[in-house]
Order: sequence, then C-alpha cells, then structure tokens
Amino acid sequence: MPNSRTSPVNQQPPPNSFRQGPDARGRFGNFGGRFVAETLMPLILEVEAAYEASKTDQAFQDEWRRLLTHYVGRPSPLWFAERLTTHLRKDAAPGMGAKVYFKRDELNHTGAHKINAVLGQILLAKKMGKTRIIAETGAGQHGVATATACALMDLPCVVYMGATDVERQQPNVFRMKLLGAEVVPVTSGAATLKDAMNEGLRDWVANVRDTYYCIGTVAGPHPYPAMVRDFQSVIGIEAKAQMQEAEGRLPDVLVAAVGGGSNAMGLFYPFLDDADVAMVGVEAAGRGLDSGEHAAALSRGRPGVLHGNRTYLLQDGDGQITEAHSISAGLDYPGVGPEHSWLHELGRVTYSGVTDDEALAAFQLCSKLEGIIPALEPAHALAEVMKMAPKMPAEKIILMNLCGRGDKDIFTVAKHLGENI
Ligand SMILES: Cc1ncc(COP(=O)(O)O)c(C=O)c1O
Repeated sequence: MPNSRTSPVNQQPPPNSFRQGPDARGRFGNFGGRFVAETLMPLILEVEAAYEASKTDQAFQDEWRRLLTHYVGRPSPLWFAERLTTHLRKDAAPGMGAKVYFKRDELNHTGAHKINAVLGQILLAKKMGKTRIIAETGAGQHGVATATACALMDLPCVVYMGATDVERQQPNVFRMKLLGAEVVPVTSGAATLKDAMNEGLRDWVANVRDTYYCIGTVAGPHPYPAMVRDFQSVIGIEAKAQMQEAEGRLPDVLVAAVGGGSNAMGLFYPFLDDADVAMVGVEAAGRGLDSGEHAAALSRGRPGVLHGNRTYLLQDGDGQITEAHSISAGLDYPGVGPEHSWLHELGRVTYSGVTDDEALAAFQLCSKLEGIIPALEPAHALAEVMKMAPKMPAEKIILMNLCGRGDKDIFTVAKHLGENI
C-alpha cells in the first residue's frame, strides 16, 4: 500500500486539479471557510498549524499507520459482490449489468470508516497537549470510534448525541458508555446530528484551553473538512491499488453514501483527477425528494452558513435551517461538507437521492445475497448501485464504499419490518 510520502494526500496537486482545494482561507471555490466565534479562532488556527505540521512529521504518520494496520485492521478488503452482480444481471438486457465491488470499511475495528479520521485527530490532539476530547455523533459510529481511541489513549471523552438518535442507536450508546465515554443527550431542535454538533461547538467555545473537538465528518470550519478528508483518503488510496490488482484497471464509477460526506470524500478524493472515473454521492431522500422529509442538501438545498462553513443546506425561505429526515441516523443532517458543494457545482460528482424504503430493500438484499449486513448509510449507496448496474454494460465496474456494518441498525430495521426483537 502507498505510504504517507507517496500518497496523493501529501503530494502537491497539479494546477487545475480537482484536488487543489481548499485555498489558504479554507475555501473550496465559494464554499467552506471558517465562520466561527472570535473565541474559537486561536484554537482553530492552532489545529490548522498542528495538522499542517503533521503532514510531514514522519513519526506522526508512522504512528497513525501503525494504528491503522494493527488496531483498525487496514487495509480493508476489496470484495467482488458476485451473487449481487448475478442477481442484478437477471433483469438486465443481454450484455448488461456492471460488476459490483465493495470496499469493505465495515470490517474496520468499531464497524465503520469513522475510526480512520478519529485516530488521526486524537493523535493530533495529544501532540497539541489537549487533555479532554469532545465529539458529536449521529449514528453513534463516530462517537464509538472516538470513545475507543480515547480509551486506548487514556483521555476523557464527552460525546454529544441528539436524543432522537440516542433512542434509535441504543447499541452504540451502550458501547460508548462501556468504553468509558460520557454520552450527553441533546434535546434541542430535532434532537439529531445538527443539534449535537451545535452542542459540541458550544462546549468547545467554553473549554478552549484543554479541549479538542474531534469532528466526525468533512464539515465544520477549516481545517476540518480538508483534514478529515485527508485522513479518510486512505480508503480511496487502498481501493485504487486493490482495483488495479484485481482488474488491472480503475473502476468506471464510484458510489458512496453522503451524510456530512466523509466516507464519500475518502473514496473519491484520490480518484478526482482520473477523468474516466465517474462518481456518485448518494443523499438520503427520506420519504421522497419532494416530500419535504429528506436529508438531500445538495439536491434540494441552497448555499448558506452552518457549523462554521458555507455549504449547501436545507433551509426555508428566510434562511432558517430546516430539519432533515432519514431512516439512517448517520445521513440525517441538513447540510453537507463544503467540498461536496464545490464538486457538485463543478459537476465533477453527481449526487442522487435514495429513499428510506429503497435503502431498507437494499439492506435486506445485501444481507441475503452477500452475507453482509450493511449499515443503513451504505444501504443507501447500495440502492443506487441496484438502480445503476443493470443499465451499464457487463464489462463496466462499479466500486461502492461499504462504509459501515449494520449491527447498530437491526432494531430500526426490525421495527420497520414489523418484527419484534
Ligand atoms: C456507517 C456510516 N456511514 C456513513 C455515515 C455518514 O457520514 P459521512 O457522510 O461523513 O461518511 C455515518 C455517520 O454516522 C455512518 O455511521
């Protein structure tokens, strides 16, 4: 696997590269930046300086890599989903039905991609001399990953989580507690991810001296969107090499679910300058894109400012942020990382919407055909793959990020299926 010296993350991208952003002010075109309270600015600048220094700090990179290999279990495998591919070809025209591969980040320790960026950030926090870690979480996967890293590195950890999400992601709440974290339910707003992030930022303003805010996605003020993307790019860097080994070429299309957008950016970023590789980000269309009950910030939102950056957001006519809805707690966010907004406007990445029902169907199909119970978040990506693959010639290749496992979601799914567990 490529090391830190050769990875596209640490190389200077060529001019006109889609990997150029962000600029010195943390902007991806008109998106991103740092819209934060003055009290936070010194700390944000401190995080930026520490992050920049870490890129060429070989000891830091080696320690992060060591943890990824021996603690997380990277590289995660690339899996040819043969039964799914055959199934999708059944209803396709002759010669149609693309080959489907999964990048199996659900096999990571703690069950999702979140741990990749968490370990990088917690190492950074330690380097900065911070002694207390806070995080927000939606599906609980980022909270579990942060609580895990804090247990490993002996740091106190507070996780803010919307009360609605506490209810629907009980297994992860209990996991965080077992790991020694304090889970603080947030009851404001819709009591979901947006509200948890508000609380995280409030805590940080009040505790700037000793606290590091470990953000779970490619959102927040600069440098978080770029920093989380860079840590998550390990997914795409591995996938590129693995695909060359398996097929001798790059995939034709990448597909990933988009909540804040970190697993998608992690997969997409190393491929952004490969012009022949198309990319599809899948937002949660909830009860339908025209139902008003979804989390499709790019498909149905418009630019505004939230959580320290300018990006596409769901908002009403007065610019008030509206509540998102998704069956999947990890996608239930009214915004999206600023780099996605930029890639959307440039047309480099296409964004689509998948409904709760479509995701539920994909969740069940993947379990039965591949013996893999996916999280509801990547089940959205899979539902998109199920629509796309039959319309593509059989020699084409789709690579989907299976970014989380479904253990956390079995209660939600059982409820929707009318099962009592
Ligand atoms: C398994 C899984 N996938 C995806 C997401 C969405 O986050 P992101 O878009 O940052 O990858 C989450 C968030 O909790 C998650 O747990």
